[in-house]
Amino acid sequence: MLNKVLFFDDDINWVKTLDVYFKDSKIELCHVTIIEDIRAQIIKDPTFNIVIIDISNPRRSILEVIRYIKLNVPSVKMILTVSDIKILNKLGLTGGALIKLGVEDVVVKPYSKEILIKSINGIKQFETWKTLKNLNEEEDDQEEIVREPDDHFTGVKLENYISGSINVFDLYIRTMRNNYIRIFHRGKKFNRQKIEKYQFKEKIEYLYFKTADRGTYINFTNKLLEKMVDKDLNVSKKAGLVKEVSEIYIDEIFTKGIDAQIVSEGESVCRNVYNLIQEDDILFELLEGYLNLEKSFRSHLFGTMFFSSVICKNVEWASENTVEKTCLGAMLHDIGILKLPEIFKTLSVKAMTAQQLVQYKNHPAAGVEMLAKFPSISEPVKQIVYQHHEMADGSGFPNGLPGIRIFPLARIVALANYFSNYIVEKKMAPKQAIHEFVMERNTMIKFDQALIKSLIIGFIKKGKT
Ligand SMILES: [Fe+2]
Ligand SMILES: [Fe+2]
Repeated sequence: MLNKVLFFDDDINWVKTLDVYFKDSKIELCHVTIIEDIRAQIIKDPTFNIVIIDISNPRRSILEVIRYIKLNVPSVKMILTVSDIKILNKLGLTGGALIKLGVEDVVVKPYSKEILIKSINGIKQFETWKTLKNLNEEEDDQEEIVREPDDHFTGVKLENYISGSINVFDLYIRTMRNNYIRIFHRGKKFNRQKIEKYQFKEKIEYLYFKTADRGTYINFTNKLLEKMVDKDLNVSKKAGLVKEVSEIYIDEIFTKGIDAQIVSEGESVCRNVYNLIQEDDILFELLEGYLNLEKSFRSHLFGTMFFSSVICKNVEWASENTVEKTCLGAMLHDIGILKLPEIFKTLSVKAMTAQQLVQYKNHPAAGVEMLAKFPSISEPVKQIVYQHHEMADGSGFPNGLPGIRIFPLARIVALANYFSNYIVEKKMAPKQAIHEFVMERNTMIKFDQALIKSLIIGFIKKGKT
């Protein structure tokens, strides 16, 4: 699909640069140098799908235009450009405010052609399923053998796969190593009977899609989950879905890195986790059962997010907003590890050499540095990432802050992070591990006592149901 971009920037020289950027691209560009002209252009031509607004000269009229777009053409994706991030604060455009206004990305000037094009394409890429039409319905959905390496595919447990009536990407079953059968095509009807046909031959536990479609899967599943909040769907089904989408999200972010769209998907994942956690006490038991004790980066991150949500649920001062921020902070807390050699993803602190330890202790700062480019990630989330190894007794890093000076949401993630590692190290189910954990006096002084209580309450409540 061709992107049609409407562009406002009152810096004539910069507009000239853009003309060069877009000269041979497939993007159709129309630029205006007077902010009020945006409205007129949109009315004149409703086929623009992206509007880029420069806010380097902040003024009220810009905000009015942004609100106008959000209200009247919500399908248009908005990107802001700015010469200095501080201007966003001046306009009150931080974190949630940007999302509320429908802004999907902020790009800092001077930006390269690649960065801008990535921002434009990135925004569309996960959402193309929304414009899918069921074409050629009559035509049979032919199956096809595909031989490609396993790492080109991502599996979803069949019981956790949820489809709309139309497949939003090609779906496969795996027959053996590096061998797949494409059983559904994108745009064709999903049909469970077809899977059952294969079930006769052998048990199918997973459905696969191309790893390249992971972003689409996350976006699509998030949207479905949002719609399901009030629906009377089986709790275990919902829990399975949330777990699946969270883990696939973690895979995406930790193999492909972050960009603006993946950040906003993370917020949806966290909202879904939050809604789920609120629902039912048996959920705790359910999700606990889903945690696995294998030492992998993905389960560590999911565990940290899960325990953070449990703690938040039992903390009086935590609001919906707090839980979502904490949950996102938990999911991203170790993002700085991506800057270190691969081995750090699973290496335990105890096994590190002195030199490795020095490198490792830099990961909170490296994480914040990576997130600095994303103004839509709020300050609290960045603080969580920066302080998730600070300990109440001052023994943590990077700054050895005493408890009182540690950001409250970072204290939650610090405890969840520690406990998530603890259950893996002890190879114990969380319920069992919590008993031992609270007996360790030297460890207990490292955390906020009220938060330890909140974590324990999560387990007790469950025991009563
Ligand atoms: Fe960490
Ligand atoms: Fe961690």
